[in-house]
Amino acid sequence: MTDDTLYPVPDAWARHARIDAAKRTALYDAAAADPTRFWLDQAQRLDWLVPPTVADESSFDEGDFGIRWFGDGRLNVAVNCTDRHLASRGGDTALIWEPDDPAGTPRRFTFLELHQHVCRFANVLKDQGVAKGDRVTIYMPMIPEAAFAVLACARIGAIHSVVFGGFSPEALAGRIIDCDSKLVVTADIGRRGGKTIPLKANVDAAAERAPSLETVIVVRTAHDVVPMTSRDIWYDEATALVSDSCPAEPMDAEDPLFILYTSGSTGKPKGVLHTSGGYLLWAALTHEWCFDQRPGDIWWCAADIGWVTGHTYILYGPLANGITTVMYEGLPNWPDASRIWQVIDRHKVTTVFTAPTALRALMKDGDDFVNATDRSSLRLLGTVGEPINPEAWRWYHAVVGEGRCPIIDTWWQTETGGAMIAPMPGATSLKPGSATLPLPGIVPQLVDEKGAVLDGATEGNLVITRSWPGQMRTVWGDHDRFFQTYFTTYPGKYFTGDGCRRDADGYYWITGRVDDVINVSGHRMGTAEVESALVLHPKVAEAAVVGMPHDVKGQGIYAYVTLNAGEAASDDLRQTLRSWVRTEIGPIATPDAIQFAPGLPKTRSGKIMRRILRKIAEGDTSSLGDTSTLADPAVVDDLVANRVA
Ligand code: WT7
Repeated sequence: MTDDTLYPVPDAWARHARIDAAKRTALYDAAAADPTRFWLDQAQRLDWLVPPTVADESSFDEGDFGIRWFGDGRLNVAVNCTDRHLASRGGDTALIWEPDDPAGTPRRFTFLELHQHVCRFANVLKDQGVAKGDRVTIYMPMIPEAAFAVLACARIGAIHSVVFGGFSPEALAGRIIDCDSKLVVTADIGRRGGKTIPLKANVDAAAERAPSLETVIVVRTAHDVVPMTSRDIWYDEATALVSDSCPAEPMDAEDPLFILYTSGSTGKPKGVLHTSGGYLLWAALTHEWCFDQRPGDIWWCAADIGWVTGHTYILYGPLANGITTVMYEGLPNWPDASRIWQVIDRHKVTTVFTAPTALRALMKDGDDFVNATDRSSLRLLGTVGEPINPEAWRWYHAVVGEGRCPIIDTWWQTETGGAMIAPMPGATSLKPGSATLPLPGIVPQLVDEKGAVLDGATEGNLVITRSWPGQMRTVWGDHDRFFQTYFTTYPGKYFTGDGCRRDADGYYWITGRVDDVINVSGHRMGTAEVESALVLHPKVAEAAVVGMPHDVKGQGIYAYVTLNAGEAASDDLRQTLRSWVRTEIGPIATPDAIQFAPGLPKTRSGKIMRRILRKIAEGDTSSLGDTSTLADPAVVDDLVANRVA
């Protein structure tokens, strides 16, 4: 699986990059010598109302636990993304929107126009009574109004909670209720790959379960009118009535900016909270360090704003840096596998940032779809979300980038706010499949199960020993869960949940999650969530879910289901359960394989031995290990015999 071939920094990059090897060394040295000075210097890249005089005041220890950065600084995040560019480049393009339908018309917004749209919507929110600290749920397709809504919240100090448009009404309702949000911004419908998604109807369904919801603002994208209720307001009508200027709310660096729900190994999704100063600094800094962006670049992060990648690298990072950002409504391979490359040609994209799962899917369709396009505008390629297999890496490098574009494989998490382990294109030699080296100021360690620190070339669990500005601050409404989840496995350290190998050159190779989280197409799914959805079905007695290898998705979802007495297993029921989970959570949670199991392998104390279930799902049945501690070792034979291929 691994490939140790070294791809040195191309000459042109070594000569022209903003950060070359010498500058990178200087950054590492400065970060190590005087972290406070280092971070305060870096923080100067933002526009502060009151510049901070303190940097890191965090502690990972139980006694004085807390994450806090730039505590006495004051700023407004939206001002940093629009206002401060107006004098120098108000007429430059801030946002290019590419529609799902290739025959549709792209929309372009200058920084000034973006600013005006944001102000208008900020005024609409204020008219609806939204004030600093209130939560606003954004359930939107990938249209410019989603960006306006996010930045409008930042402008008035409201906390946005973007919920991916692929989530079900059930999942949306849970996220509205958890943060007690009173207002949802949505659209009549969403469009992806030529299909429509009934977003407004989903909000209506969610509203029945979420009594806190008072107002729904609806962007009109279609001619067919969706039914409106007394709760609903049309976006276009409301924004037409308000001014295009709106004062920005002065915020403390530690005032919340957004909540983003993500799956963990247990329980319901957690509301990851990020705050204003540290998060924005980390977004802007990593965007520049990893991608060497400068004015004139056309940057395209092909993620959805429903995920952290979209927050940090479609919106906050590039806009804070004054870079043109592309927002694409559709899928990379619709109408065909040329689409992603056609969009690059159409907008002269200089850097594209996407997920290995998309590359694997495109690769399957063959090189002709790539070769039919020009791509000469590209100078850099990025990847994120899951380990990239060397084969996909080499294809991306050789076929897509024609050998001239470095590949920036960024390892990070919703919790980290921005990239943590990643190359700098002018300074880092690359190895296919490795996210390479920690960024300046990031201090990772590999530890064994007991927490002993492992040195040199080794493999272990990845922890981070010092805070960084983009670190999440808490789990919304449950600070104790934040501490328990991340800081108790290895006391005094942040535990990422990832396994990792470090080679003799100090390069990091993420090997995948070591907890009960699976990574499906670069999206995180908690096995417990899928299990809870399955057991809600009246015919299901018990369910256990594990990951299985999947050649496009990276990991697929494998579910073992025990039916209630008297219920018969059938292919029909399998289909029913698949669509049941789709409806409960969303299409991304649909099980790829369902195995009906009369019993699950449990210890005498009733704990399911997932290790065995994982092995069977992987097809690795020759080495199931010790099964003698099971209450009923015979269930294993049945599971092996009836494995779903
Ligand atoms: C998990 C975080 C990072 C934003 C998108 C996903 C895996 C992420 C990589 C990478 C290997 C990666 C990890 C991590 N992951 N990037 N470049 N190489 N693994 O964010 O949903 O919070 O998931 O994604 O397992 O823990 P997320």
